[in-house]
Amino acid sequence: MSVDSSHQRQPGLIQIYRPDAAAVRAELAAGLLGPAARIAPKYLYDALGSRLFAAITELAEYYPTRTEAEILARHATDIASALPTGATLVDLGAGNCEKAARLFDYLKPARYVAVDISVDFLHQALHCLQREHPLLELLGVGLDFSTQLVLPPQVGTGPRVVFYPGSSIGNFTPAEALAFLRQAREVSQGGALLIGVDLVKPVSVLEPAYDDALGVTAAFNRNMLLHLNGLLGSNFDIAHWRHRARFDTEQSRIEMYLDAMQDQLVQWPGGERLFRRGEAIHTENSYKYSVPGFEALLSEAGFAQIRCWTDRQNWFAVFTAQAA
Ligand code: AVI
Repeated sequence: MSVDSSHQRQPGLIQIYRPDAAAVRAELAAGLLGPAARIAPKYLYDALGSRLFAAITELAEYYPTRTEAEILARHATDIASALPTGATLVDLGAGNCEKAARLFDYLKPARYVAVDISVDFLHQALHCLQREHPLLELLGVGLDFSTQLVLPPQVGTGPRVVFYPGSSIGNFTPAEALAFLRQAREVSQGGALLIGVDLVKPVSVLEPAYDDALGVTAAFNRNMLLHLNGLLGSNFDIAHWRHRARFDTEQSRIEMYLDAMQDQLVQWPGGERLFRRGEAIHTENSYKYSVPGFEALLSEAGFAQIRCWTDRQNWFAVFTAQAA
């Protein structure tokens, strides 16, 4: 949001999240040593993991990204009419900023704030965006909002539209999702929320979306072990781990696991675990909601005037909700 010597507006960049390497190692070791080993899904996203996720979004089996884009494109005018114009558009998990940029013409934001874990991910996208929108104020914020959603004062005052697309809300448990939505309501006080949510559908559609024929999701999941080797100093051999995805109907969630294909001792500085053949590491949940179920969650979080748009197959939903 500064102006350089050639009077060209430049995006502002603030890095708030500073990973504590010792705390990360302690969290990972605790997850691996638990009776049922588990690792938080945020560790799926190192540089390669982020690229593999981008590839997933292009797969025929992975319907959420394109279905959400279709809904946003088809109903853009209507959706925009449910949101304040001239607001600060706060994009959570912005990445390449493409999804939000497609909304600029409709929402006409006064300022665009892209939030992701690291401003390094945002830097290039924001500079490209600034060339296309030379007058728009742009700010990149490096923040781990999965643990706490509090925005820095540089985001400024005035009404905000919080944009949380991609059904990333599904990677929280329903209790975590409620806590997150309450924080989103506080952050967007006087403004609104625009959120994408994946819906329950036949298992024959859900499971291939998380276990595609090309094996990209398998690579995305197994790459987590390489990421762990770097962070924790562990010696996972990915050749001995298989990707598995299943839909748990009762909990209404896709579960992703890495299954040990043979007995193996995994070691890291200060710890080790013998994994028996068939033992699993739980790496991700992706909850699938019904429209009334998610409306209830939004109401419980204190949102009002909830509206919803879906695709023809009712596979995905986009909600707007006012944070009065
Ligand atoms: C980022 N998130 C919404 C994705 C999902 O669908 O839960 C992550 C993902 N995992 C496997 N494929 C995609």
